[in-house]
Amino acid sequence: MDPVRNPYAPGAGQRPPELAGRDDELSAFDVVLERIAHGRPERSLVLTGLRGVGKTVLLNQLRSAAIGRGWGTGKIEARPDQSLRRPVSSALHMALRELRHPDQESMEAVLGVLKAFALRQTADGKVRDRWQPGIDVPASSGRADSGDMEIDLVELLSDAAGLAADVGRGVALFIDEMQDVQADDVSAICAACHELSQQGAPLIVVGAGLPHLPAVLSASKSYSERLFRYLRIDRLDRPAADRALLAPAEREEVTFEPAALDALYAAADGYPYFVQAYGKVTWDVAAASPITAADVAVAAPVAEAELAVGFFGSRYDRATPAEREYMHAMAELGGPNGSAVATSEVAVSLGRKPASLSPARDSLIKKGLVYSAERGQIAFTVPHFGRYLLSHPD
Ligand SMILES: Nc1ncnc2c1ncn2[C@@H]1O[C@H](COP(=O)(O)OP(=O)(O)OP(=O)(O)O)[C@@H](O)[C@H]1O
Ligand SMILES: [Mg+2]
Repeated sequence: MDPVRNPYAPGAGQRPPELAGRDDELSAFDVVLERIAHGRPERSLVLTGLRGVGKTVLLNQLRSAAIGRGWGTGKIEARPDQSLRRPVSSALHMALRELRHPDQESMEAVLGVLKAFALRQTADGKVRDRWQPGIDVPASSGRADSGDMEIDLVELLSDAAGLAADVGRGVALFIDEMQDVQADDVSAICAACHELSQQGAPLIVVGAGLPHLPAVLSASKSYSERLFRYLRIDRLDRPAADRALLAPAEREEVTFEPAALDALYAAADGYPYFVQAYGKVTWDVAAASPITAADVAVAAPVAEAELAVGFFGSRYDRATPAEREYMHAMAELGGPNGSAVATSEVAVSLGRKPASLSPARDSLIKKGLVYSAERGQIAFTVPHFGRYLLSHPD
């Protein structure tokens, strides 16, 4: 069928033609926004899940919901080894502009604090460039500029929330890839959320990250379990996966035979990225509507080959030989379903001492390829990665 009209969209953070199966999360978020705007206590939210499950897309959708209610919003994508100071300043700058506080003077006072926060160098003073935050008011002094991220963030966020409270709205800060936030910054974020929720300030942090993010947060502050509400973002169930395929097709007056949907669910296993990837190729190979199981049979190997290069291969290529060896051992032990395995068993199967494998394991975690949900256990962050490795022995 006409590839130009192909609605499916495999990609990172790519808005899907139909956001299927996330109604519960969206309506829970509406309640949260409403409660916070009324000064009621609410926890900040953290979305966790495997690669390609739709965390970024959902985060963006939640942001739209907040904007729709007139909230000020900003978004950050955390990177390993990067301080949050600059990204937070840009995100809050955006949020303050979106708030459109009617009183110029109050607005400028907070912008002055924001500028001071942004320009404050980190304690090690490494960033000595001429970066300018693009805020056209003079930096103030004495607030949010101590250099201690925890103190500064609490002060800055309280001021921003104060502006939002004046106008009966709130501020929402979205943090994607939150597992990559540096330890000091994680504890500053937790402390700020803790402090602001005690003040009843209308500010919420919404994080998204890999399944071990709750462990990262609780390692930082023991109270983080009470601070955040964790929502596990999972595979789509059968009705949602069907809707993800059918709704966009039907807008183009195309439909699928039930047997085609069976075959697509078997292949994509409900993982949103795979639903889009298989849907896209199937559309292109199908001659006419309704799309049949035979079309899917032709498309599946093509889609698999594309995934092997783009989705799996690009990640595998980032691993060193030692890391690859480690992942192959994980795949053998975990089987095609990619079950979590004990790190001690990986060591036994490689005939090595567990301690000698720690560097490979730690750097795989840092690269976001594997995670440890429980002490002594390790699993792939990428769905079907074990299966891919088993069919691509090196
Ligand atoms: N609810 C959904 N229904 C249909 N398609 C979806 C849904 N959520 C996400 N997708 C599609 O899945 C793909 C992956 O989404 P996204 O980038 O948000 O995943 P992610 O969890 O952020 O992945 P990563 O951990 O790699 O960042 C995109 O192509 C997106 O269009
Ligand atoms: Mg993402």
